[in-house]
Amino acid sequence: MQLARKLLYGGIFILFVAGALLLATNLHANAYQPGVLEELSSVEVPPAKLEPCLHCHIQGEHTNLWTPTARWLVFGTLGLVFLFGFWQSASIWTQRKPFKPLTTRVADWIEERYQIAKPLNEMLKKPVPSFARWWWYCLGGITFFLFIIQGTTGILLAFYYKPTAAEAYASIQFIENEVYFGAAIRAIHHWSANGMIVMAVAHMLRVFIMGAYKPPRELNWVSGVILFVLTLTFGFTGYLLPWDQRAFWASTVGTDIAGAVPAVGNLVLIFLRDGWGVTEATLGRFFGLHVLVIPIATVVFMLLHFMMIRRLGVKRPH
Ligand code: HEM
Repeated sequence: MQLARKLLYGGIFILFVAGALLLATNLHANAYQPGVLEELSSVEVPPAKLEPCLHCHIQGEHTNLWTPTARWLVFGTLGLVFLFGFWQSASIWTQRKPFKPLTTRVADWIEERYQIAKPLNEMLKKPVPSFARWWWYCLGGITFFLFIIQGTTGILLAFYYKPTAAEAYASIQFIENEVYFGAAIRAIHHWSANGMIVMAVAHMLRVFIMGAYKPPRELNWVSGVILFVLTLTFGFTGYLLPWDQRAFWASTVGTDIAGAVPAVGNLVLIFLRDGWGVTEATLGRFFGLHVLVIPIATVVFMLLHFMMIRRLGVKRPH
Protein backbone atom coordinates (compact mmCIF):
# COMPACT_ATOMS: atom_id res chain seq x y z
CA MET A 1 0.00 0.00 0.00
CA GLN A 2 2.78 2.35 1.01
CA LEU A 3 4.67 1.42 -2.13
CA ALA A 4 1.61 1.97 -4.29
CA ARG A 5 1.07 5.39 -2.75
CA LYS A 6 4.70 6.28 -3.35
CA LEU A 7 4.42 5.11 -6.94
CA LEU A 8 1.32 7.24 -7.44
CA TYR A 9 2.91 10.38 -6.02
CA GLY A 10 6.13 9.72 -7.94
CA GLY A 11 4.15 9.09 -11.11
CA ILE A 12 2.07 12.22 -10.75
CA PHE A 13 5.21 14.24 -10.06
CA ILE A 14 6.93 12.93 -13.18
CA LEU A 15 3.78 13.54 -15.20
CA PHE A 16 3.67 17.08 -13.91
CA VAL A 17 7.30 17.69 -14.85
CA ALA A 18 6.75 16.08 -18.24
CA GLY A 19 3.65 18.27 -18.77
CA ALA A 20 5.58 21.40 -17.84
CA LEU A 21 8.35 20.41 -20.24
CA LEU A 22 5.81 19.75 -22.98
CA LEU A 23 4.28 23.17 -22.47
CA ALA A 24 7.63 24.97 -22.29
CA THR A 25 9.13 23.31 -25.35
CA ASN A 26 5.88 23.74 -27.23
CA LEU A 27 5.79 27.47 -26.51
CA HIS A 28 9.39 27.73 -27.52
CA ALA A 29 8.81 25.84 -30.74
CA ASN A 30 5.94 28.15 -31.64
CA ALA A 31 7.90 31.34 -30.98
CA TYR A 32 9.35 31.20 -34.45
CA GLN A 33 6.63 31.58 -37.09
CA PRO A 34 7.92 30.59 -40.52
CA GLY A 35 7.13 33.11 -43.21
CA VAL A 36 6.85 36.23 -41.07
CA LEU A 37 10.53 37.17 -41.16
CA GLU A 38 10.86 36.30 -44.84
CA GLU A 39 8.01 38.63 -45.75
CA LEU A 40 9.56 41.53 -43.88
CA SER A 41 12.91 41.44 -45.60
CA SER A 42 14.23 40.56 -49.01
CA VAL A 43 17.39 39.18 -47.41
CA GLU A 44 17.52 35.40 -47.50
CA VAL A 45 16.72 34.16 -43.99
CA PRO A 46 18.18 30.79 -43.08
CA PRO A 47 15.61 28.31 -41.75
CA ALA A 48 15.29 28.45 -37.99
CA LYS A 49 16.95 25.71 -36.04
CA LEU A 50 14.13 23.64 -34.62
CA GLU A 51 14.06 23.52 -30.87
CA PRO A 52 13.63 20.13 -29.19
CA CYS A 53 9.92 19.66 -28.77
CA LEU A 54 8.38 16.97 -26.57
CA HIS A 55 5.14 16.50 -28.45
CA CYS A 56 7.10 16.24 -31.73
CA HIS A 57 8.96 13.26 -30.27
CA ILE A 58 5.79 11.58 -29.10
CA GLN A 59 4.09 12.10 -32.44
CA GLY A 60 7.18 10.89 -34.26
CA GLU A 61 8.00 14.18 -36.05
CA HIS A 62 11.70 15.14 -35.85
CA THR A 63 12.75 11.89 -34.20
CA ASN A 64 16.11 11.88 -32.46
CA LEU A 65 17.75 10.36 -29.42
CA TRP A 66 15.20 11.93 -27.07
CA THR A 67 12.20 10.39 -28.78
CA PRO A 68 12.12 7.03 -26.94
CA THR A 69 12.92 8.74 -23.62
CA ALA A 70 10.04 11.16 -23.99
CA ARG A 71 7.67 8.37 -24.98
CA TRP A 72 8.73 6.19 -22.05
CA LEU A 73 8.36 9.10 -19.66
CA VAL A 74 4.87 10.08 -20.71
CA PHE A 75 3.31 6.69 -21.42
CA GLY A 76 5.20 5.04 -18.55
CA THR A 77 3.81 7.55 -16.09
CA LEU A 78 0.30 7.14 -17.46
CA GLY A 79 0.76 3.40 -17.12
CA LEU A 80 1.84 3.79 -13.48
CA VAL A 81 -1.21 5.89 -12.70
CA PHE A 82 -3.42 3.30 -14.42
CA LEU A 83 -1.80 0.45 -12.46
CA PHE A 84 -2.29 2.33 -9.21
CA GLY A 85 -5.98 2.87 -10.00
CA PHE A 86 -6.32 -0.82 -10.81
CA TRP A 87 -4.57 -1.77 -7.56
CA GLN A 88 -6.82 0.51 -5.55
CA SER A 89 -10.03 -0.85 -7.10
CA ALA A 90 -8.87 -4.41 -6.61
CA SER A 91 -7.94 -3.81 -2.98
CA ILE A 92 -11.29 -2.17 -2.30
CA TRP A 93 -12.96 -5.22 -3.80
CA THR A 94 -10.93 -7.74 -1.78
CA GLN A 95 -11.08 -5.82 1.51
CA ARG A 96 -14.78 -4.91 0.99
CA LYS A 97 -14.22 -1.42 2.33
CA PRO A 98 -16.64 1.25 1.03
CA PHE A 99 -15.16 3.31 -1.78
CA LYS A 100 -14.06 6.80 -0.79
CA PRO A 101 -13.19 9.34 -3.49
CA LEU A 102 -9.81 11.04 -3.28
CA THR A 103 -11.38 14.39 -2.33
CA THR A 104 -13.14 12.89 0.71
CA ARG A 105 -9.93 11.14 1.73
CA VAL A 106 -7.97 14.40 1.49
CA ALA A 107 -10.65 16.21 3.53
CA ASP A 108 -10.63 13.42 6.16
CA TRP A 109 -6.84 13.49 6.31
CA ILE A 110 -6.84 17.24 6.98
CA GLU A 111 -9.70 16.91 9.48
CA GLU A 112 -7.84 14.22 11.45
CA ARG A 113 -4.98 16.65 11.93
CA TYR A 114 -6.70 20.04 12.30
CA GLN A 115 -10.13 19.04 13.65
CA ILE A 116 -11.74 22.15 12.25
CA ALA A 117 -15.03 20.72 10.90
CA LYS A 118 -17.03 21.41 14.08
CA PRO A 119 -15.98 25.04 14.66
CA LEU A 120 -16.22 25.70 10.91
CA ASN A 121 -19.72 24.26 10.82
CA GLU A 122 -20.77 26.35 13.78
CA MET A 123 -19.43 29.43 12.03
CA LEU A 124 -20.80 28.80 8.54
CA LYS A 125 -24.11 27.09 9.25
CA LYS A 126 -25.65 29.83 11.42
CA PRO A 127 -29.12 30.52 10.00
CA VAL A 128 -30.07 34.06 8.96
CA PRO A 129 -33.20 35.20 10.87
CA SER A 130 -36.13 35.64 8.51
CA PHE A 131 -36.55 39.38 9.24
CA ALA A 132 -32.95 39.95 8.04
CA ARG A 133 -33.77 38.69 4.55
CA TRP A 134 -35.19 42.05 3.44
CA TRP A 135 -32.95 43.72 0.90
CA TRP A 136 -31.94 46.61 3.15
CA TYR A 137 -30.19 44.14 5.47
CA CYS A 138 -27.99 43.12 2.52
CA LEU A 139 -26.40 46.53 2.03
CA GLY A 140 -23.46 45.81 4.40
CA GLY A 141 -22.90 42.44 2.69
CA ILE A 142 -22.93 44.11 -0.74
CA THR A 143 -20.32 46.61 0.51
CA PHE A 144 -18.19 43.67 1.64
CA PHE A 145 -18.67 41.90 -1.70
CA LEU A 146 -17.49 45.02 -3.55
CA PHE A 147 -14.45 45.15 -1.27
CA ILE A 148 -13.56 41.60 -2.34
CA ILE A 149 -13.94 42.65 -5.99
CA GLN A 150 -11.64 45.61 -5.29
CA GLY A 151 -9.03 43.35 -3.68
CA THR A 152 -9.08 40.90 -6.58
CA THR A 153 -8.99 43.44 -9.41
CA GLY A 154 -6.47 45.55 -7.45
CA ILE A 155 -4.04 42.62 -7.24
CA LEU A 156 -4.41 42.04 -10.99
CA LEU A 157 -3.72 45.74 -11.70
CA ALA A 158 -0.69 45.68 -9.37
CA PHE A 159 0.88 43.00 -11.59
CA TYR A 160 1.36 45.68 -14.28
CA TYR A 161 1.25 49.06 -12.52
CA LYS A 162 4.55 50.86 -11.79
CA PRO A 163 4.50 53.55 -9.09
CA THR A 164 7.17 55.88 -10.48
CA ALA A 165 6.79 59.30 -12.09
CA ALA A 166 8.42 58.05 -15.30
CA GLU A 167 6.39 54.87 -15.66
CA ALA A 168 3.05 55.25 -13.85
CA TYR A 169 1.08 56.85 -16.71
CA ALA A 170 2.70 54.60 -19.31
CA SER A 171 1.91 51.48 -17.26
CA ILE A 172 -1.75 52.53 -17.10
CA GLN A 173 -1.75 52.97 -20.90
CA PHE A 174 -0.18 49.52 -21.16
CA ILE A 175 -2.92 48.04 -18.97
CA GLU A 176 -5.59 49.79 -21.08
CA ASN A 177 -4.22 48.83 -24.50
CA GLU A 178 -2.02 45.75 -24.24
CA VAL A 179 -2.91 43.60 -21.23
CA TYR A 180 -5.63 40.98 -21.85
CA PHE A 181 -8.84 42.24 -20.18
CA GLY A 182 -6.75 45.08 -18.69
CA ALA A 183 -9.26 47.77 -19.63
CA ALA A 184 -12.12 45.68 -18.22
CA ILE A 185 -10.31 44.95 -14.96
CA ARG A 186 -9.47 48.64 -14.57
CA ALA A 187 -13.07 49.66 -15.30
CA ILE A 188 -14.39 47.13 -12.75
CA HIS A 189 -11.90 48.48 -10.16
CA HIS A 190 -13.09 52.03 -10.92
CA TRP A 191 -16.84 51.32 -10.76
CA SER A 192 -16.69 48.99 -7.75
CA ALA A 193 -14.80 51.72 -5.88
CA ASN A 194 -17.69 54.10 -6.54
CA GLY A 195 -20.22 51.35 -5.78
CA MET A 196 -18.54 50.55 -2.48
CA ILE A 197 -18.89 54.15 -1.29
CA VAL A 198 -22.55 54.32 -2.41
CA MET A 199 -23.35 51.00 -0.69
CA ALA A 200 -21.52 51.97 2.51
CA VAL A 201 -23.58 55.18 2.69
CA ALA A 202 -26.81 53.25 2.01
CA HIS A 203 -25.86 50.70 4.71
CA MET A 204 -25.08 53.49 7.17
CA LEU A 205 -28.46 55.10 6.43
CA ARG A 206 -30.25 51.78 7.03
CA VAL A 207 -28.44 51.36 10.36
CA PHE A 208 -29.23 54.97 11.33
CA ILE A 209 -32.90 54.89 10.29
CA MET A 210 -33.51 51.64 12.19
CA GLY A 211 -31.62 52.86 15.27
CA ALA A 212 -29.31 49.81 15.07
CA TYR A 213 -26.38 51.87 16.41
CA LYS A 214 -27.93 52.04 19.92
CA PRO A 215 -26.50 50.02 22.87
CA PRO A 216 -25.07 47.43 22.83
CA ARG A 217 -24.06 48.12 19.19
CA GLU A 218 -22.26 51.46 19.62
CA LEU A 219 -18.83 50.00 18.82
CA ASN A 220 -20.24 48.62 15.58
CA TRP A 221 -21.14 52.17 14.64
CA VAL A 222 -17.64 53.33 15.63
CA SER A 223 -15.87 50.59 13.65
CA GLY A 224 -18.31 51.38 10.80
CA VAL A 225 -17.28 55.05 10.77
CA ILE A 226 -13.61 54.00 10.65
CA LEU A 227 -14.43 51.63 7.77
CA PHE A 228 -16.18 54.45 5.95
CA VAL A 229 -13.19 56.80 6.36
CA LEU A 230 -10.89 53.99 5.13
CA THR A 231 -13.17 53.46 2.10
CA LEU A 232 -12.95 57.17 1.23
CA THR A 233 -9.17 57.12 1.74
CA PHE A 234 -8.96 54.19 -0.68
CA GLY A 235 -10.63 56.41 -3.27
CA PHE A 236 -8.47 59.42 -2.50
CA THR A 237 -5.12 57.60 -2.67
CA GLY A 238 -6.15 55.57 -5.74
CA TYR A 239 -7.03 58.73 -7.64
CA LEU A 240 -3.38 59.87 -7.83
CA LEU A 241 -2.03 56.58 -9.17
CA PRO A 242 -2.70 57.17 -12.94
CA TRP A 243 -0.37 60.18 -12.58
CA ASP A 244 -2.15 62.31 -15.20
CA GLN A 245 -3.13 66.00 -14.92
CA ARG A 246 -6.45 65.26 -13.20
CA ALA A 247 -4.74 62.92 -10.71
CA PHE A 248 -1.98 65.41 -9.96
CA TRP A 249 -4.25 68.40 -9.41
CA ALA A 250 -6.93 66.48 -7.49
CA SER A 251 -4.27 65.27 -5.06
CA THR A 252 -2.72 68.73 -4.87
CA VAL A 253 -6.08 70.28 -3.93
CA GLY A 254 -7.03 67.37 -1.63
CA THR A 255 -3.81 67.48 0.34
CA ASP A 256 -4.00 71.31 0.42
CA ILE A 257 -7.37 70.99 2.15
CA ALA A 258 -5.86 68.57 4.69
CA GLY A 259 -3.02 71.08 5.16
CA ALA A 260 -5.49 73.83 6.02
CA VAL A 261 -6.62 72.07 9.22
CA PRO A 262 -5.55 74.22 12.19
CA ALA A 263 -2.53 73.12 14.27
CA VAL A 264 -1.90 69.67 12.73
CA GLY A 265 -2.44 70.68 9.06
CA ASN A 266 1.22 70.99 8.12
CA LEU A 267 2.11 67.70 9.74
CA VAL A 268 -0.67 65.91 7.85
CA LEU A 269 0.37 67.63 4.62
CA ILE A 270 4.00 66.57 5.01
CA PHE A 271 2.96 63.04 5.90
CA LEU A 272 0.68 62.72 2.88
CA ARG A 273 2.96 64.38 0.32
CA ASP A 274 6.22 63.13 1.77
CA GLY A 275 7.51 66.73 1.39
CA TRP A 276 5.99 70.14 0.68
CA GLY A 277 5.04 69.53 -2.94
CA VAL A 278 3.28 66.74 -4.84
CA THR A 279 6.21 64.77 -6.29
CA GLU A 280 7.22 61.23 -7.16
CA ALA A 281 7.65 60.70 -3.40
CA THR A 282 3.93 61.48 -2.97
CA LEU A 283 3.11 58.90 -5.62
CA GLY A 284 5.10 56.27 -3.70
CA ARG A 285 3.46 57.27 -0.43
CA PHE A 286 -0.07 57.08 -1.87
CA PHE A 287 0.74 53.75 -3.53
CA GLY A 288 1.97 52.30 -0.22
CA LEU A 289 -1.14 53.54 1.58
CA HIS A 290 -3.45 52.31 -1.20
CA VAL A 291 -2.11 48.76 -1.56
CA LEU A 292 -0.81 47.97 1.94
CA VAL A 293 -1.78 50.20 4.84
CA ILE A 294 -5.45 50.85 4.04
CA PRO A 295 -6.27 47.27 2.91
CA ILE A 296 -4.74 45.78 6.07
CA ALA A 297 -6.51 48.31 8.31
CA THR A 298 -9.80 47.67 6.46
CA VAL A 299 -9.53 43.90 6.92
CA VAL A 300 -8.81 44.35 10.64
CA PHE A 301 -11.80 46.65 11.18
CA MET A 302 -14.07 44.46 9.06
CA LEU A 303 -13.14 41.49 11.26
CA LEU A 304 -14.07 43.52 14.37
CA HIS A 305 -17.29 44.67 12.66
CA PHE A 306 -18.30 41.12 11.69
CA MET A 307 -17.28 39.51 14.98
CA MET A 308 -19.52 41.91 16.85
CA ILE A 309 -22.43 41.20 14.49
CA ARG A 310 -21.93 37.47 15.18
CA ARG A 311 -21.87 38.03 18.95
CA LEU A 312 -24.89 40.33 19.15
CA GLY A 313 -26.83 39.25 16.08
CA VAL A 314 -28.52 41.69 13.71
CA LYS A 315 -30.85 44.03 15.58
CA ARG A 316 -34.53 42.92 15.53
CA PRO A 317 -36.89 45.52 14.06
CA HIS A 318 -39.58 46.73 16.49
C1 HEM B 1 -16.73 49.00 4.49
C2 HEM B 1 -17.84 49.20 4.99
C3 HEM B 1 -18.79 48.28 5.73
C4 HEM B 1 -19.04 46.95 5.63
C5 HEM B 1 -18.38 45.95 4.69
C6 HEM B 1 -20.09 46.64 6.59
C7 HEM B 1 -20.67 45.38 6.76
C8 HEM B 1 -21.73 45.13 7.61
C9 HEM B 1 -22.53 43.93 7.60
C10 HEM B 1 -22.37 42.75 6.62
C11 HEM B 1 -23.47 44.03 8.59
C12 HEM B 1 -24.60 43.03 8.89
C13 HEM B 1 -26.02 43.63 8.73
C14 HEM B 1 -26.26 44.48 7.55
O1 HEM B 1 -25.61 44.28 6.52
O2 HEM B 1 -27.06 45.43 7.61
C15 HEM B 1 -23.22 45.29 9.27
C16 HEM B 1 -23.91 45.75 10.37
C17 HEM B 1 -23.69 46.98 10.97
N1 HEM B 1 -22.93 48.01 10.47
FE1 HEM B 1 -21.68 47.87 8.89
N2 HEM B 1 -20.41 47.77 7.28
C18 HEM B 1 -19.66 48.80 6.76
C19 HEM B 1 -19.73 50.12 7.12
C20 HEM B 1 -20.50 50.61 8.16
C21 HEM B 1 -20.67 52.00 8.48
C22 HEM B 1 -20.07 53.14 7.65
C23 HEM B 1 -21.45 52.04 9.60
C24 HEM B 1 -21.90 53.26 10.38
C25 HEM B 1 -21.25 54.36 10.50
C26 HEM B 1 -21.77 50.70 10.00
C27 HEM B 1 -22.49 50.32 11.11
C28 HEM B 1 -23.04 49.09 11.33
C29 HEM B 1 -23.87 48.72 12.45
C30 HEM B 1 -24.24 49.62 13.66
C31 HEM B 1 -24.28 47.40 12.23
C32 HEM B 1 -25.22 46.56 13.13
C33 HEM B 1 -26.58 46.62 12.51
C34 HEM B 1 -27.60 45.71 13.17
O3 HEM B 1 -27.26 45.00 14.11
O4 HEM B 1 -28.75 45.77 12.71
N3 HEM B 1 -21.20 49.85 9.08
N4 HEM B 1 -22.16 45.94 8.64
